Amino acid sequence: MILLITLSIIKADTGGFVGHSAVHPDMMAAARHAMDRAVRSELLIDGHVASCGDDVSLIMTHRYGADSQLIHSFAWDTFQTTTGVARELGLYGAGQDLLSDAFSGNLRGMGPGYAELEFDERPSEPVVCFLADKTEPGAWNYPLYKMFADPFNTAGLVIDAKMHAGFVFEVYDLFEEKWICFDCPAELYDMLMYIGAPARYVVHGVRSKTLGETAAATSTQRLSLIAGRYVGKDDPVMIVRAQSGLPALGEVLEPFAFPFTVGGCMRGSHHAPFMPVSVGHAHPARFDGPPRVVALGFQIHDGRLVGPRDLFADPSFDEARHQANLAMDYLRRHGPFEPHRLPLEDLEYTTMPQIQARIADRWTPLPSPPVPATAGRPASAGAAKS
Ligand code: 13P
Ligand code: 13P
Ligand code: MG
Ligand code: MG
Repeated sequence: MILLITLSIIKADTGGFVGHSAVHPDMMAAARHAMDRAVRSELLIDGHVASCGDDVSLIMTHRYGADSQLIHSFAWDTFQTTTGVARELGLYGAGQDLLSDAFSGNLRGMGPGYAELEFDERPSEPVVCFLADKTEPGAWNYPLYKMFADPFNTAGLVIDAKMHAGFVFEVYDLFEEKWICFDCPAELYDMLMYIGAPARYVVHGVRSKTLGETAAATSTQRLSLIAGRYVGKDDPVMIVRAQSGLPALGEVLEPFAFPFTVGGCMRGSHHAPFMPVSVGHAHPARFDGPPRVVALGFQIHDGRLVGPRDLFADPSFDEARHQANLAMDYLRRHGPFEPHRLPLEDLEYTTMPQIQARIADRWTPLPSPPVPATAGRPASAGAAKS
């Protein structure tokens, strides 16, 4: 019998230090303590606690599969503990992402985000855990497309025979709660029509057609759609397996050499460049941004997490960071104007309705035909000149 390994990343914002910029060291210590106990009690094979911005990520290996009540309730309890620490220290937004009062079954719709991937461990199993802050799950659409569908990014799509059959992308429509699979490269153009709109359509997973294995998984929930109001940004996570018929490590990282634009940043309501950073620099400051992404590399061996390596702590990503800062300057100068600010239809799911309600009765229908631009001027003003 094959004993499958599950790699789960479960994350939540349970309080920020200072504002929404980082996680307090005491919260990290509390989470590490809980994780150590869970490994000693053999609930987990292994675990690693990491953070990006004000979000804590529990990176765990175990044998209970995805959506396991045991694993999800462990994460929920750990987030209650870190929330307790945040409350004691008066940290900002303590318990921010915990939308429910009590745990029931699994974390679906409860606030914390999760990406889980179940697999038969290969003789050598390199994986990358991506953690983001100040953005939404659609932020993974562009890099997943580049990794698994663009031969200008991934040389293996041309050079490695095991990759020629392509990959299947599982895409969620978050507004209408339905999903679809796109068989790529055959259905690339159809897929791009949807995933090019990342606020609504989100790649949930990618599967290799040749290996029949899942290669990537993302956290896809949108907090505002669950809560019906703006709570904070989703700050998604993603797992990508690499090598041996899948994109090589460098192909997995390559999309982030371009600081593409994502939704998020200040008040979750702006477009801003996605900046790849080391763990030590994963603390959004300027305008609560630019949105950050860290990449933790592990070799999984007998379920153990050998690592992490801090993969963006490398000078080859300096230019992406420089370009991100330039793009941030450019976008910031738009102030409250689109396209720096998110389009209205996105804000309609967050803060716009309150403002709309307040002034709703002051809007007056335009007369037909429309009022000329000179309406309201004294009648003599135009006449005197002619
Ligand atoms: P694989 O060994 O995974 O086929 O990768 C080849 C390689 O050289 C990547 O840089
Ligand atoms: P977080 O989602 O990281 O808590 O950020 C919220 C926010 O509004 C930042 O300006
Ligand atoms: Mg926060
Ligand atoms: Mg956050």
